[in-house]
Amino acid sequence: MEKILIEGGVPLKGSVEVFGAKNAALPILFATILAGGRSIIRNVPRLTDVTNTVLILRELGVGCERLGGGEIAVETFDPDPCAADHDLVRKMRASVCALGPLLARRRRAKIPMPGGCPFGHRPIDLHLKGLEALGARIHVEHGFIEAETDQLKGAHILLSGPNGSTVLGTANVMMAAALAKGMTVIEAAACEPEVADLARFLNAMGARIQGIGTRTLEIEGVEELRGADYRIINDRIEAGTFMIAAAMTGGDATIENAQPELLTAVIDTLRSMGAEVTSEANWIRVRRGQSPRPVDVTTYPYPGFPTDLQAQIMVYLCLAEGRSVVTERVYPDRFMHVAELVRMGANIRKEGAAAIITGVRELSGAPVMASDLRASACLILAGLVAKGITEIGDVFHLDRGYERIEERLAGLGAHIRREVTQPILAV
Ligand code: EPU
Repeated sequence: MEKILIEGGVPLKGSVEVFGAKNAALPILFATILAGGRSIIRNVPRLTDVTNTVLILRELGVGCERLGGGEIAVETFDPDPCAADHDLVRKMRASVCALGPLLARRRRAKIPMPGGCPFGHRPIDLHLKGLEALGARIHVEHGFIEAETDQLKGAHILLSGPNGSTVLGTANVMMAAALAKGMTVIEAAACEPEVADLARFLNAMGARIQGIGTRTLEIEGVEELRGADYRIINDRIEAGTFMIAAAMTGGDATIENAQPELLTAVIDTLRSMGAEVTSEANWIRVRRGQSPRPVDVTTYPYPGFPTDLQAQIMVYLCLAEGRSVVTERVYPDRFMHVAELVRMGANIRKEGAAAIITGVRELSGAPVMASDLRASACLILAGLVAKGITEIGDVFHLDRGYERIEERLAGLGAHIRREVTQPILAV
């Protein structure tokens, strides 16, 4: 059991480096199932989600080897397995990305239905709709998705649902279409930079994808894909988390390896709140100019304000004098962090898919529990500004998406440390 202890009140100063993007790395690792031959993936962060993906791939006959630094070499050693029954598949949602590549390359796939999620129901109907349109026969039984095909064929597919586009759904269908016969058009495709990164990786493997980064993807199927040497993009969500941390602690920090053009909505919001943000092609400097002003924030698919930074910006808004409204348009139930922030003295009222925040003068440190990855990041930020000591439990969530975050925040001056606690034995 591990926990993180933070003594708040230190302005973050200096510079911090952003690592590779988790949400690009995971689908790209699964995409290697599509290729014959060895791929080298660079800039892969050291996260438990990456380790778990490597374990799932091994079960599927794909070997992965860390070459040191952020590089992983990937190569299929057994092209036959079509089923992954690892407990990890159930636990890690991104493992649904094995479905499209298995179906396209091995013609059959059987994986557990991804489980529920702390922030609500996360259906995969659009993934299945897209794969069925390509000619897959799919049925869901006894908690498993079973899919098979004689040959996938290109199709015209609309991939939008009640909450807009789907990131991993677009990834899954795009990967399958890369090896389908003929032309596929995906309309209402997700435009997230991580989906674009996957498309660029597929093209490096020999796929023919056009319209990358737009709402319409055109994929001309090819006979086979080869291994590729590819460097994944840096993590914009990690960058955004550090940016908010710098602003809210009244600090002055430069986030290295951050791409400002991928963070326009976040930069806009921080400026509206009164922070000073300057940038060049691959760094962003954030300083708090004045006391934070309240603003309304609504999450949307890219290029809107990212749902993966909603919890973090909420902490900053808790300290802005006046009323702010945060509305979730991607995951209407993603508010698990609210109860923990209230425990630390925040004034937040939840109404449907919105949280109404009335700014308070300060937060106070308390023992809190992280419910998911981004909620953990939000509690870390709250701890950095709270009076006294904040103790965050269940930190394994954090290690799924942020590499050594406490060391990097300590490098900016934060008083933060990880502590290993002994499990309480039953008597
Ligand atoms: N949706 C459907 N049907 C589907 C798929 C999705 O209705 O078949 C709905 C979802 O319920 C949600 C909306 O569409 O309301 C968007 O979900 P999406 O499919 O885009 O989410 P995802 O692909 O499962 C990825 C990221 C999430 C991130 C979302 C939104 C990965 C591994 N996960 O999930 O990241 O929040 O896109 O940007 O890429 C995180 O990193 O903490 C995280 C949760």
